[in-house]
Amino acid sequence: MDKINNKSLLSILCEHGDDALAIDNPADGSVVGYIPVQSESEIDECIEKSRLAQKSWQKRTAKERSSLLYRWYELVMENQADLARLMTLEQGKPLPESVGEVAYGASFIQWFAEEGKRAYGMTIPGHTEDKRLMTIKQPVGVTAAITPWNFPIAMITRKAAPALAAGCSFIVKPANQTPLSAYAVVELARQAGIPEDVLQVVVHQSPETVGDLFTHHPTIRKLSFTGSTRVGRHLIAQSAETIKNTSMELGGNAPFIVFDDADIDQAVQGAMASKFRNAGQTCVCANRFYVHDEIYDQFVSQFIEAVKGLKVGNGLEAGVQIGPVIDSLAKERILEKVNLAVEQGATVATGGKALNGCFVEPTVLTGVQQSMSFIQEELFGPVAPIVRFNTDEELIQQANDTIYGLAAYFYSRDITRIWKIAESLEYGMVGINEGIISTELAPFGGVKQSGFGREGGQEGLEEYLETKYLCFGGIH
Ligand code: SIN
Repeated sequence: MDKINNKSLLSILCEHGDDALAIDNPADGSVVGYIPVQSESEIDECIEKSRLAQKSWQKRTAKERSSLLYRWYELVMENQADLARLMTLEQGKPLPESVGEVAYGASFIQWFAEEGKRAYGMTIPGHTEDKRLMTIKQPVGVTAAITPWNFPIAMITRKAAPALAAGCSFIVKPANQTPLSAYAVVELARQAGIPEDVLQVVVHQSPETVGDLFTHHPTIRKLSFTGSTRVGRHLIAQSAETIKNTSMELGGNAPFIVFDDADIDQAVQGAMASKFRNAGQTCVCANRFYVHDEIYDQFVSQFIEAVKGLKVGNGLEAGVQIGPVIDSLAKERILEKVNLAVEQGATVATGGKALNGCFVEPTVLTGVQQSMSFIQEELFGPVAPIVRFNTDEELIQQANDTIYGLAAYFYSRDITRIWKIAESLEYGMVGINEGIISTELAPFGGVKQSGFGREGGQEGLEEYLETKYLCFGGIH
């Protein structure tokens, strides 16, 4: 922690009481810092404060809220180096990726500072002569979010920024593995002048308890969740009682498809970026590769060469491209899936082994068949299984043969095929000759059991707005 320069960030990150949560560095198991945890009644108090704060926040003009958000954006960027270092310490991702995530996270604040001023309603031609109809947009109210450890800042800002821009108050429960980044980014919001009760962080020893409190509390009008499909399903069911508005960004099983007319160099480059970003721990990471028979050998040999060249290590060391996975449980889970793949007949072409600490060798599995059960599961690690295919029809059937529908990628140079495949893939996002698709400018989200709702883009603000219809009568 000694290289964090911003003293106010450093001080909040070192607070600890008797029941503080210790945060471990997954690269070496050392303790990075401590975070105070709240009791259930303290979380209840936060919700009540949020209710009161929302009323005055909503009354401010969109332009005022925008200025405060814009100042927050500037402070995040001014503290980019400190935030990135902190992120690598608690999450493990290589420092350049953390630097990139801070900018990615900040970009949502900047974007929604602008979009908040455009929460337009509309006028509607009336249905009788004496009537005039219109809609106005109003904030949903008190909102809450449960965010994951894989993007400790960006997954908070892409929910909090549209909520605040729309006039909602917001409470976030970050993952217990990465609350330091959450506290740090929220501290910067305070420094920017965003009122304390409008944007709050809560941490509890038991994430399930917070999930219960958020979903059952009638004051919270919306819950936004990023995480697994299993937990999302549970939160949706629990939210039914209070008919809560929910947005769910859940698991993925992204196919990465290389057609026979693809530019192979470009496809290998895209595959590396898509598969190994954050050590394979993103919902949109390529989870299974489909490579056309004609170019299979060429693609696979180039891909394996590139994977062998990846440098694994502590994310703070120069040149490291693959950091640790988040914890030892994650490591075990990934290796179990590799073992299952081998039992089912796949071959380890490179990697496949555990390394000391929370590290897993970047792995390529060949000889993979669609019928192998592990292909239906989200790997969430640096493992790339490759399936060979022959026809477009077979490919579409296999790519869509999953409960998930978040992201898909394909490489082709044939414009007719590009349109047909893009339209046939049952996914919320499709990368065409591109392995990295995330940006604040476009709607991020899935279909099927990957969830619903969109984050970023024009759609991101709508998630935190209600449409109210006004009917003016008696106009003779
Ligand atoms: C995620 O893994 O949930 C988010 C990935 C991204 O924003 O690119």
